[in-house]
Amino acid sequence: MNSKRFHRSPPSSSGGDGVNREKKVKRKEILAKKKAIDELIKAACTVKDHLSSFPPFRHYDRNGLSLYLESGRGDKLSSPVKHYIQSLLKLNMEGPYGSEWPVEEKVKRREMVASEARYILVHEAPNSNANEITMMSTAEKTSTCLKESDPLVGFVHYRFIIEEEIPVLYVYELQLVPRVHGKGLGKFLMQLIELIAQKNCMGAVMLTVQKANLLAMKFYISKLRYTISTISPSRVNPMIGMEKSYEILCKAFNDEAKSILEEVDK
Ligand SMILES: CC(C)(COP(=O)(O)OP(=O)(O)OC[C@H]1O[C@@H](n2cnc3c(N)ncnc32)[C@H](O)[C@@H]1OP(=O)(O)O)[C@@H](O)C(=O)NCCC(=O)NCCS
Repeated sequence: MNSKRFHRSPPSSSGGDGVNREKKVKRKEILAKKKAIDELIKAACTVKDHLSSFPPFRHYDRNGLSLYLESGRGDKLSSPVKHYIQSLLKLNMEGPYGSEWPVEEKVKRREMVASEARYILVHEAPNSNANEITMMSTAEKTSTCLKESDPLVGFVHYRFIIEEEIPVLYVYELQLVPRVHGKGLGKFLMQLIELIAQKNCMGAVMLTVQKANLLAMKFYISKLRYTISTISPSRVNPMIGMEKSYEILCKAFNDEAKSILEEVDK
């Protein structure tokens, strides 16, 4: 196959050969880079428990909350946990999605059980008295049905993927029950996510936020210093961006990821 290509090259001049050699080298470099990125993603996906590298993040005992974290995978979720996730998503996201919710709910139900889905599940520690029956929402009531573990108060669903040839940790969901909002838990979980991303050599953390979810926008942009990514519809084409109900946010960790994924016109 190589020889055929070789015959189609321009007549033997040193310039033509040089150009071909250069192209070949470039192609090799591109393939090697692609292979290295694929291997990074594979390695990150193979890690059984991303939390194990960060013992201080196994527990959260602050602001009246006594919680512990555990790792999970989409294809290993128990039925009660799946049910809990569905209820919490509906509770938190039906409002921001508005009329798009019925379609989005179906998409999320598929995504949540994928083998690529990785989870940080947040449980109430045993004997924690924060689990008052009177304060429970529907989603929380579901969580009390969990037989094999302590009640859940939230979760992060994340994946290792490639965006614009950069390996990234993509946060698919960060969802907490309302009664634990504003107690530092969301920030704590995002700090953990950023550590997991860096430990696994990802170039950035990325996520999608509904424009109507003003509190989440404020949380990520003002508090956690995420920026609207160059691949967000509003940056790619402002006209298309106006029609879209979401933005893609990003925090990059190295120069290459910064130059490709982060907003440049600031
Ligand atoms: C968005 C969410 C994850 C934030 O988590 P949280 O635990 O409530 O936020 P934290 O307590 O860690 O807040 C971190 C900072 O953001 C600020 N913040 C949090 N919620 C805020 C709010 N509703 N309004 C204004 N500021 C807020 C806090 O003041 C805090 O700042 P500080 O560190 O200076 O005190 C959580 O509220 C949630 O699950 N919301 C519903 C689901 C959702 O919208 N998820 C995001 C989808 S992309």
